[in-house]
Amino acid sequence: MTKKTILITGGAGFIGSHVVRLFVTKYPDYKIVNLDKLTYAGNLQNITDIENAPNYVFEKGDIVDANFVNELFEKYHFDSVIHLAAESHVDRSITNPMEFVMTNIVGTVNLLNTAKNAWKADLNKGFEDKLFYHVSTDEVYGSLHNPEEFFLETTAYDPQSPYSAAKASSDHFVRAYHNTYKMPVVISNCSNNYGENQFPEKLIPLFINNIQTNKALPVYGKGENVRDWLYVQDHARAIDDVFHKGKNGETYNIGGFNEWKNLDLVLLLCKIMDKKLGRPQGTSEKLISYVTDRAGHDLRYAIDAKKIMNELGWQPSLQFEEGLEKTIDWYLSNEKWLNDVTSGEYQKYYEIQYLDN
Ligand code: NAD
Ligand code: DAU
Repeated sequence: MTKKTILITGGAGFIGSHVVRLFVTKYPDYKIVNLDKLTYAGNLQNITDIENAPNYVFEKGDIVDANFVNELFEKYHFDSVIHLAAESHVDRSITNPMEFVMTNIVGTVNLLNTAKNAWKADLNKGFEDKLFYHVSTDEVYGSLHNPEEFFLETTAYDPQSPYSAAKASSDHFVRAYHNTYKMPVVISNCSNNYGENQFPEKLIPLFINNIQTNKALPVYGKGENVRDWLYVQDHARAIDDVFHKGKNGETYNIGGFNEWKNLDLVLLLCKIMDKKLGRPQGTSEKLISYVTDRAGHDLRYAIDAKKIMNELGWQPSLQFEEGLEKTIDWYLSNEKWLNDVTSGEYQKYYEIQYLDN
C-alpha cells in the first residue's frame, strides 16, 4: 500500500473521530494528522483509544489561521486532506451566523489555498497523487416537499439556513479550485448521522439524555419534519470508499434510504428507552413537549445514494432500530462522557436555546 500523510480536520468531533479511528487502525502505513480547534464540539475523549498509535498525531489549531495552516503543511508535507472541521449545528447558525461564515467558508478556502500553494510548489509532482476531500451535507440541496423526490448529485443547490448556506458556499469553493486550478478534489454530501460520541445538542443524543434525566423532550413544531438517518460508522466507511475509489472532481451523495418523521423517531426512542431503563411503556412519551418551530425549518431531506452504492460498492451495514439500540446502549454506559460534555458552556447554550419554551 502507498504510504500517505493525510490531514484530517475536525477529527475530535463526532464524525471526524470515527473517521480518524478508521484510518489510523485500518491503514497503519498512513500517517494521520488530526487538526482540531477543540471548540465546544471537539472532544479528545472521543479518541483516547488511538491517541498513542504510532501513525497518529494531534495538532490543536484553527483552520481559519492561515499562518498556522501553512506551517502545518510545511511540517508534514500532506498528500491529502480530508476536511470535516465545521460549525455543524443549525440552531447555533441561526443565533450566530458569523462563526459559520468564518469556519465553514473562510476556513475551507484557507485550507484549499494553502493546499494549492504547497502542492503547486512541489515542482516534481505538483497535484500528482494529491487529493482534497471535502465532507459536506445534504442540507445544501434545501428542503423537499414532494414525497416522490430525492436529492441527487445533480440536484440544484438551494440552502435555507445559515449553516447550509455556509456549507454550500464551501462546496462551491472546492469546485472552483478544481475547475480553476485543476486541484484534485472529491465532495460527499451525507444525510443525518447518529451514533456514539454525538454532541447532545442534536436530536437523538439530546433526547436520550433528557429521557434519562426526566427532562422535557422539545419537539419543534408538530414533529412532522423528515430526516434520513445513517449510522455514523457507515458514514466513516463511505468516506473511506470515496477517498480511495472516488473519481477526481466527482460528488457522492451518502444516505441510508431511511426516512423518519421526527415524531415517529421520538416515539421509537421513548419505547426503547423505557425498555432499557426498566420503566413502564409510555413513561418517556409523557415527556414530549411541542415547542416553537425552528426558524426556516427544512421539511424533508432524503438522499438518493444509488451512485455511491453502484459505483463504489458501498452499503449501509445497520438497520435503524439496531443502530439506535446500539447508540442508546453507548450513551447509557458512558455517563461520564455525557456529564463532561453537558457541563459548562453547553449548560448556558441549553438555557438560551430552550428558555422561551
Ligand atoms: P461536530 O460539530 O461534532 O465536529 C466538528 C469538529 O470541528 C469539532 O471537533 C470542532 O472542534 C472542529 N472545529 C470547529 N471549528 C474549527 C476550526 N475553526 N478549526 C479547526 N477545527 C474546528 O460536527 P460533525 O457532526 O462531526 O460534522 C463533521 C462534518 O460533517 C461537518 O463538516 C458537517 O457539516 C458534516 N456533516 C455532518 C452531518 C451530521 O449529521 N452530523 C451530516 C452530514 C455532513
Ligand atoms: O442532514 C445533515 C445534517 O443533519 C448535518 O449537516 C448537520 O450538521 C446535523 O446537525 C443535522 O442537521 P439537522 O438540523 O437535521 O439535525 P438536528 O439533530 O439538529 O435536528 C434533527 C431534526 O429534529 C430537525 O428536524 C429538527 C428537530 N429537532 C431538533 C432538536 C435539536 C427538534 O424537534 N427538537 C430539538 O430539540
